[in-house]
Amino acid sequence: MADTALMDKLVSLCKRRGFVFQSSEIYGGLGSVWDYGPLGVELKKNVKDRWWYAMVHARDDIEGLDAAILMHPKVWEASGHVAGFTDPLVDCRQCKNRFRADDPRIKGTPGQSDAQCPVCGTRGSLTEPRLFNLMFKTFMGPVEDSAAVVYLRPETAQGIYVNYLNVLQSSRQRIPFGIAQIGKAFRNEITPGNFVFRTREFEQMEMQFFVRPGTDAEWFERWREWRMNWHHALGLSPAKLQWHQHAGSELAHYAKAAFDIQYQFPFGWQEIEGIHNRGDFDLSRHQEYSGKKLEYFDQARNERYIPYIVETSAGADRVALTLLVDGYREEEVEGETRVVLGLHPNMAPIKAGVFPLVKKDGMPEIATTLYHDLRKQFTCFYDDSGAIGRRYRRMDEAGTPFGVTIDGETISNQTVTVRNRDSMQQERLALSRVAEYLGDKLTLTS
Ligand code: GAP
Repeated sequence: MADTALMDKLVSLCKRRGFVFQSSEIYGGLGSVWDYGPLGVELKKNVKDRWWYAMVHARDDIEGLDAAILMHPKVWEASGHVAGFTDPLVDCRQCKNRFRADDPRIKGTPGQSDAQCPVCGTRGSLTEPRLFNLMFKTFMGPVEDSAAVVYLRPETAQGIYVNYLNVLQSSRQRIPFGIAQIGKAFRNEITPGNFVFRTREFEQMEMQFFVRPGTDAEWFERWREWRMNWHHALGLSPAKLQWHQHAGSELAHYAKAAFDIQYQFPFGWQEIEGIHNRGDFDLSRHQEYSGKKLEYFDQARNERYIPYIVETSAGADRVALTLLVDGYREEEVEGETRVVLGLHPNMAPIKAGVFPLVKKDGMPEIATTLYHDLRKQFTCFYDDSGAIGRRYRRMDEAGTPFGVTIDGETISNQTVTVRNRDSMQQERLALSRVAEYLGDKLTLTS
């Protein structure tokens, strides 16, 4: 299958089944902003829940935080984003389009007469590259003047740094310890695209681990290993995951060392998570800009220092997209194409479909009772319309791992069939054991 064809099919499935819709679609859409439908919101929630479990609930050295999106504007001066979170851009004076200066579609040198606009084709209309800040600005309070400018955060990390002492003191943690946060971030990306891969509004799952200087390299390696294991446990194909180490020229302004976890998307190997050794850059800068001491007193060692930070930063939307891409497959079954989203059962938005084989003979009543019973523990979907094969196919496309069918035998001996999405094999079990069966298959602790 051609690469773009796979993405096109996935985008179409996402709309058809209610995973992802274009934002403001009835108005023609808003560039690179997407909405999550009923199944998409469950999928992304499963990603976030699993991350939160691994980071906060399963460990006693990481605390959770939910800092506000709007922060004091000085935060972004201290963080280096006002000065450095920029892309060089060129404008076309003719058609008013804007491009990254390194856009491969531009022929010639921007600012020179030979440069040609990739949209309107005019020669000599492109300006010299100018730095363009990727942060969204808005205004706080009633007066739209520069004194009231605030930014939509471009990363969640800064909310953690400015709260590090609050969390440390209130939770009575000691270094080494971490703070984890999930939340929205905004970037006015100039070359967004590839569906929800690069968007202007997205969700980050970030954890900042505060360590004693000198122990950072060791923690960095530990976190690299733990984070790769986490992606493997989501059920992603191990052969499609790899490390990419940032060379010196690629390193962000804050990073001493950085590795990306990359996935092999149809559009190439791309980052889904970054692990960064940020040294004392962030806390030193906030100490300098705020005038507040952000040192830690290490009682055991009787020394004071600004902790170093090891950061793990993943995109919830990117991880959800990775699951969709990795799970998508087409198979020929009895002369028809079966589309399956082979999601790990723990990640599937709907855990079980419940189907009465026919709409008579008491089957809908039993199926409805079972459905309401199962819903107390699992996300389920009730479907009594159309041939049973069609109903199975709809659930296959939604990634639902199990299909429970109430048939003639249920009436006579209180058993049901449970169909496995991947093998399409069915097994019979007692109606009274269905909840226990699903519970066994859906262990959330791994
Ligand atoms: N605090 C560090 C930081 O923000 P980053 O590499 O710029 O690092 C971390 O972003 C993660 O956030 C990326 O690995 C990606 O998963 C996600 N991300 C970044 N920009 C994104 C965008 N425009 N759309 C969707 N996800 C994005």
